[in-house]
Amino acid sequence: MISESELERIRSDFPILKNGVGGKPIIYFDSGCVSLRPRQVMHAMNEYYEEYPACAGRSIHKLGKKVSDKLAEARRTFAKFLGARKAEEVIFTRNTTEGINLVAHSLKFSKGDVVITSDREHNSNLLPWQLLSKRSGVEHKIVYSTDNMEFDLEKFKEMMNDNVKLVSLVHSSNLDGYTLPAAEIVKIAHENGSLVMLDGAQSAPHRQVDVRKLDVDFFALSGHKMLGPAGTGVLYGKCELLEEMEPFMLGGDTVQNSTYNSYVLLKPPEKFEAGLQNYAGSIGLAEAARYIEKVGKEKIEKHEHELNKLISERLLKIKSASIIGPKQVELRSGVVSFNIEGMNFHDVAVMLDENNIMVRSGQHCVHSWFNAHNIPGCVRASLYLYNTIDEAGKFLDVLAGIARLR
Ligand SMILES: Cc1ncc(COP(=O)(O)O)c(C=O)c1O
Repeated sequence: MISESELERIRSDFPILKNGVGGKPIIYFDSGCVSLRPRQVMHAMNEYYEEYPACAGRSIHKLGKKVSDKLAEARRTFAKFLGARKAEEVIFTRNTTEGINLVAHSLKFSKGDVVITSDREHNSNLLPWQLLSKRSGVEHKIVYSTDNMEFDLEKFKEMMNDNVKLVSLVHSSNLDGYTLPAAEIVKIAHENGSLVMLDGAQSAPHRQVDVRKLDVDFFALSGHKMLGPAGTGVLYGKCELLEEMEPFMLGGDTVQNSTYNSYVLLKPPEKFEAGLQNYAGSIGLAEAARYIEKVGKEKIEKHEHELNKLISERLLKIKSASIIGPKQVELRSGVVSFNIEGMNFHDVAVMLDENNIMVRSGQHCVHSWFNAHNIPGCVRASLYLYNTIDEAGKFLDVLAGIARLR
């Protein structure tokens, strides 16, 4: 777990934790949606705007050169963060959604190809495949979880055949925090000749991810869920695959040359980064990656797990409470999704908010799972490196009081 003195130091980096809201401290348990940002990230972004607010890769003046260098450094930092072989394998995007859509629109699919997802995908890793199905005759299949809401490796193996072109799965679920056995899945898929993409929106911020060790083909993440600026993200792709793929968006910075009726594309990553980019965002995101590495990914994972254990144990002592996801708390990382019987999940979230405790309520963009299980929604507390035991205790005290109102 992160020590108390280190936690204090970490928390002092987050202005909103120091300043609170309405003159009172906040308990922020909504990092699965957007994390808070430390001043180091804001500082890196401000530096761009104040010291070299120009365009990368185009202008040869001093400011253009500086932003090009900073962007290249940000790409190298991120490649290291993910364990990529080359910086060119890192494409800056706006978010996970864009990364997944980039693959859906740029990888060559043919009629009859199969794409497999799981039964608890965020809409960002479900709708692109439904659209592809509608447009190109690609078949979208779902591997259903076990009764304990774990990934069903046996069922998955049975679904493998020559037609499976891509397996695209949520690495850690935003619904319940469950992390699937990615290395085993990749091995099975590769033995079958299929590619694998992981939706890493909820894994990369919270645990060690090494794309090379996992041997995953594509990995998408969002910067704003990992201490980075809003509207930033990364798509990792193996170099040889990116080389083959046709970008779905073209324009400035994607080509070496063009005539009135032809063009020559640049190499990856540039051919996928069309138009002027969010340089401050990418540079801020690299600073976020450095911040996480400095604290230590394993330490962060352990810290969230300990907090979740504490919360889950006490939550289940409230008779009317139930938790969504695997029974074993160690399988649910830093996410606690729950309902209080007889109470609307939005009402619970509003009452928590009245106490400056911020959680998320609803279907968390996993409508398909909630519809399939006939559950209208839930409350979700999602934790991060700045949360404390004291906050967990206060949250549970307030929640116990809310539950007594039933
Ligand atoms: C697992 C998962 N995938 C994808 C997304 C989409 O992320 P973004 O909106 O940043 O593209 C989210 C967002 O909550 C998520 O939790």
